[in-house]
Amino acid sequence: MRAILIQLAMKNNSILFWRTFLTPRCWESKKERLFCLSVIFLFVACKKELITTAPVLPIVQLKVQLGQDLFFDKSLSNPVGLSCSSCHAPETAFTDLNHSIVSEGAVDGLYGNRNAPSIAYSMFTPSALHYSIPDSSYKGGFFLDGRVNTLVQQAQKPFLNELEMNNPNPAAVIFKLNAVSYFPVYRQVYGDVTDVAAAFNNIADAIAAYEASVGLTNRFTSKYDYYLKGQASLTVEELSGMQLFSDTLRGKCTKCHLISLDPSCGKALFTDFTYSNDGVPKNPDNPYYTIPSAFNPSGSNYVDVGLGDFVINRAYNGMFKVSTLRNIAITAPYFHNGCFNTLDEVVHFYNIRNLPGSGYPPPEVASNIDTVNTGNLHLTPQEEKDIVSFLKTLTDGYK
Ligand code: HEC
Ligand code: HEC
Repeated sequence: MRAILIQLAMKNNSILFWRTFLTPRCWESKKERLFCLSVIFLFVACKKELITTAPVLPIVQLKVQLGQDLFFDKSLSNPVGLSCSSCHAPETAFTDLNHSIVSEGAVDGLYGNRNAPSIAYSMFTPSALHYSIPDSSYKGGFFLDGRVNTLVQQAQKPFLNELEMNNPNPAAVIFKLNAVSYFPVYRQVYGDVTDVAAAFNNIADAIAAYEASVGLTNRFTSKYDYYLKGQASLTVEELSGMQLFSDTLRGKCTKCHLISLDPSCGKALFTDFTYSNDGVPKNPDNPYYTIPSAFNPSGSNYVDVGLGDFVINRAYNGMFKVSTLRNIAITAPYFHNGCFNTLDEVVHFYNIRNLPGSGYPPPEVASNIDTVNTGNLHLTPQEEKDIVSFLKTLTDGYK
């Protein structure tokens, strides 16, 4: 009898099961034995039930489909013509398709202040900005300054941002939703629209489901991923680059762009979601400087202080959320203000920024720059190249 139970337990692969029902106490009387057996029967039955109903419910798939339709829909801006995908296009790993420094909004000639980051892998961002004691840093939250707590809340913002999709209010968005071809899918997932606030939340919920989908947005199909699985080999340059990248005394990149497996997904995300100031210069070509003063009263004197502005503490001025480096080869230009166009320039900057006579314009925010881990790496030109080669293995779609 015990042998059969052990077999069952192994089949169900449950340590808890083992501990609870295979203890000697369980076999003391006939009554207890009966009880144990019935619990075991229930357990096995439930497990079976779980297994048979586990495949993704169609409603979940519909939600992702709806989210995708919404994400690409250019009819939801004011005036029409701009969708989430205009600034987060799949071809460029969900950044600006035209590699613009900052993307133009629905209204001609209006631009936001920051370079559009990739939304791929952003679903793994720890929710809600918080101070992490082990990291001695702020951590998590959406946008480059962590000002929004969840992916769902984030997805509502662009619809109403005057410099982006420019709708006056949620009602204007929901009014347009009623006319879209995929509205029946919306109703299948969420039912009739009875309340604007709820419907506005629902569309954000669907978009977030699309953004969180493994396969569509979070693909994990880079050469590096295949290398880890033993299905691709890295060149000598790429391997050397990976070593330098991970060497905490040389490239020091993994001090912030973690290569270790993230507990949220068991894969490397190349960010620890903390905040720091890389000391990047202003980008004089940023069109944000030229938009009407109603939107940017400081004109070309505007300084993006990042996290400091949101937490209202100058001690964090100049800090931005560490970017993922997945797909980095196809998401130029780089940094919050798009001030570098190539990875060679970025790595060279990390290598020599602090050196006297390095020739860079002053940093956008001169305080709080991390001069321990960035800015003076003593890398040779070949080593810089190797790091770039490694970064290029992080592009999805290798096979
Ligand atoms: C006009 C360009 C533009 C449009 C349209 C746009 N975004 Fe963005 N998106 C940006 C920029 C710029 C940022 C970074 C802004 C910041 O940090 O302040 C951003 C940030 C994000 C982030 C945060 C990523 C992270 O790692 O924190 C997500 C998620 C996102 N957008 C999703 C969307 C969705 C969903 C839509 C459509 C509802 C959308 N965006 C529409 C430009 C755009
Ligand atoms: C002290 C933390 C830290 C270290 C060390 C560091 N980075 Fe970064 N990295 C950041 C932060 C923060 C950003 C975003 C800064 C911004 O937008 O202004 C960033 C941005 C980048 C970007 C641009 C991302 C984008 O989407 O625009 C690249 C590329 C990059 N880092 C590569 C590297 C490489 C390669 C190394 C090692 C040589 C490295 N980083 C070391 C913190 C760090």
